[in-house]
Amino acid sequence: MSKATKTLTEKELNPLASLDVWEDDLLDRYPDPNAIATAKDTETFRVYTVPARDGVKEFYDLNHTYQTYDFVMEKRADYLKFDKKEMTIMEAFEFLNQLVDDSDPDIDLDQFQHLLQTSEAIRRDGHPDWMVLTGLLHDMGKVLCLFGEPQWAVVGDTFPVGCAYSDKIVYSEFFKKNPDYTDERYNTKYGVYSPNCGLRNVHMSWGHDEYVYHMVKDYLPEPALYMLRYHSFYAQHKENDYNHLMDEHDHEMFKWVVLFNAYDLYSKSPVAPNWEELKEYYGDLLAKYLPATIKL
Ligand SMILES: [Fe+2]
Ligand SMILES: [Fe+2]
Repeated sequence: MSKATKTLTEKELNPLASLDVWEDDLLDRYPDPNAIATAKDTETFRVYTVPARDGVKEFYDLNHTYQTYDFVMEKRADYLKFDKKEMTIMEAFEFLNQLVDDSDPDIDLDQFQHLLQTSEAIRRDGHPDWMVLTGLLHDMGKVLCLFGEPQWAVVGDTFPVGCAYSDKIVYSEFFKKNPDYTDERYNTKYGVYSPNCGLRNVHMSWGHDEYVYHMVKDYLPEPALYMLRYHSFYAQHKENDYNHLMDEHDHEMFKWVVLFNAYDLYSKSPVAPNWEELKEYYGDLLAKYLPATIKL
């Protein structure tokens, strides 16, 4: 928890009714161009995708104000030790599901269902099995909430810290409140970086993407790692506004990030996949790539 936010009430600190409100809001910003999901009953889906957006603006206000370069360094130093828990992946999914979305009780799709819908949509389209697995894992980092992190340090569009913020980032006006905005080490176009230094040398705002990337980085092929690490980096994969930090290799890999994003955003459906029918396939897939237990 950042010292700066200690005076806020619980509601002020976590203005979204659930983490999913952020993702639903993304659908308004980037609506589905050609409907990947097949199981959409139009009426049910309309109700599902248009909940109240209460708290989104307040959420970005906090995110943009408090995600400083120093905050990112602090969180990396803590979480990248991976000394909190050790469990099987299935136990980790159960742990993740303790994040209950009580804003949408009629729909009742938990975190795991979103992961499964994403991975199943990828599988239906015949992509490599490691990409299916990426779909299944991509939001695992949201367990950060269960370690007491506020919503603004778990979800939200991600962006580089340590250099000027793109005005293509949603609600970018709130960055004026971030101390880095007036810190001359961090507020120039390149800040602490150099032209086209490659994203591997760039620190992103802290959240579930960076965390899950580090969790599994030894086990999956590189395109999968890019998808995990940058799936919320909308200012680049949708807006192309950080080309000045990217190198050739990043551009190659971002083709995968763009491909993945469509499944993340547009695979949501009110119909839950049948886990009983799928668990053998996924059990084999997990065993093929991942060790018996992972560290959080
Ligand atoms: Fe995500
Ligand atoms: Fe997601």
